Amino acid sequence: MKKAFAPYSNFRVGAALLAADGSVFAGCNVENASFPAGSCAERNALGAAILAGQQEFTELVVVTEADTPTPPCGICRQALVEFAPSLAVTSFGALGTSAAWSLTELLPSPFTGQSLKHA
Ligand code: THU
Repeated sequence: MKKAFAPYSNFRVGAALLAADGSVFAGCNVENASFPAGSCAERNALGAAILAGQQEFTELVVVTEADTPTPPCGICRQALVEFAPSLAVTSFGALGTSAAWSLTELLPSPFTGQSLKHA
């Protein structure tokens, strides 16, 4: 989170993704003057993990500077469900409180590779 580049929103986010082999991949949000070109901490952690050869994940931890814990955004939920449909997600807010969900709970009806199949 401390390494985040978030001069536009001033909302810094850190993410840590635990792979099935026990390795952990970190990510932070990286914003851009062209706002849609920015990317979230969660997807940057996922990209780092994929690049390192990991494709199975069990846990995601998110930390932000918001007072209360915040869940991953919708795009990140969709990106994560591709690899870990039942991922355990925990988020910590700046006041020390945490919240936990399963990705299934956060994205109950995902669009998946199966959704692309047609006759
Ligand atoms: N952000 C994340 O990194 N993860 C989320 O789950 C929610 C939002 C970032 C994107 C942007 O840089 C800033 O937080 C404000 O939306």
